[in-house]
Amino acid sequence: MRNVMKTYGRKPVAFTHGEGAWIFDTSGKRYLDALCGIAVTGLGHNHPRVTKAIQDQASTLIHCSNLYQIPEQEALAVKLCQLSKMETVFFSNSGAEANEAAIKLARLYGHQKGLSEPVIIVTEQSFHGRTMATLSATGNRKVQAGFEPLLSGFARVPFGDVEAVRQVALNNKNVIAIFVEPIQGEGGVQIPSPQYLNELRQIADKEDWLMMVDEVQTGMGRTGAWFAHQHNEILPDVMTLAKGLGNGIPIGACLARGKAAETLTPGTHGSTFGGNPLVSRAAMATIEAIELDALLDRATFIGDTITQGLTKRFDGVTSVIDIRHKGLMIGIELDRACAPIVDLGLEAGLLINVTADKVVRLLPPLILDEKQIEFLVSTLSSVITQFLSESK
Ligand SMILES: Cc1ncc(COP(=O)(O)O)c(C=O)c1O
Repeated sequence: MRNVMKTYGRKPVAFTHGEGAWIFDTSGKRYLDALCGIAVTGLGHNHPRVTKAIQDQASTLIHCSNLYQIPEQEALAVKLCQLSKMETVFFSNSGAEANEAAIKLARLYGHQKGLSEPVIIVTEQSFHGRTMATLSATGNRKVQAGFEPLLSGFARVPFGDVEAVRQVALNNKNVIAIFVEPIQGEGGVQIPSPQYLNELRQIADKEDWLMMVDEVQTGMGRTGAWFAHQHNEILPDVMTLAKGLGNGIPIGACLARGKAAETLTPGTHGSTFGGNPLVSRAAMATIEAIELDALLDRATFIGDTITQGLTKRFDGVTSVIDIRHKGLMIGIELDRACAPIVDLGLEAGLLINVTADKVVRLLPPLILDEKQIEFLVSTLSSVITQFLSESK
């Protein structure tokens, strides 16, 4: 690893292959993957439909510039727009790039409306990526520290606080958009009140702002709907996707509708790789598999079952502060910092994650079977119990 920049704290394990919810390391040990490469492999590993689409396309045409027509990309855009009721799509290679597109779109839209310094409202504890614009939008000083000067043009409010948004509306006439995650993932699986997005939609309508949702982590079925905002029956003006969109093939997307749909025009934005034939086919196959196997309902069922199981196990355990979830975004908040739980999980054959210091985060695949659900609940319960007793 000497020649790889040390941007990650890596665990001393490497994986050779995966099969469904299982992933295997170089010694042959098997782990239940309840992290999915951080919300990426929602269909599990080595999904036959996705693998076949990649193989087919790789043997035909992997890449073609966006200077030409790309039918596979067009087909994917049509499908995503059908699922989301959005109207146009820009394809990127990652979540941060999808968000860059959204931020640029909002700024350009602001300039077109005569604002020379347009402002986007963002929230505390948010995470939008690590490029300069997206880390400036991110509400976490750890992500920003050392990279100043940050981009200007963001106003920050507490997540879930609608009144704070109203105050900004009163005091700042340069606001052009509000940009939020429907559920904060990196921020600790923070689920706002059911009315939150509806209220933001109302304010955005009243003030003529764009409502932009970052569904990079919450999208593609993870919360039991194609996109988490659909639980609210509202439509955003802009939505970003990545992670689960290609089940591991790098692809992101910025979708827009209505007044935002035609803002980006030739020459205003672009990407060499974005939406090439290979990634577009992989994403289309991912969507088809979610549809064919009715995985949205399955995500809801699995999430409810896991959460009920954990809630039962930790009934009366005061060190477990909260167990919350929407579909398969699950957070178990403890009363103490709990990073070592990840290592205990590894030992026990379980891939999990800790975020926001005290929150054990599960992002399991949408294809877990009953036995795997049981394994996950019982192994995780033991690991948390062990951690709590050793860290007293
Ligand atoms: C909500 C959200 N937005 C954006 C990103 C950044 O995505 P990427 O790492 O693909 O750039 C992430 C990654 O964790 C995320 O959770």
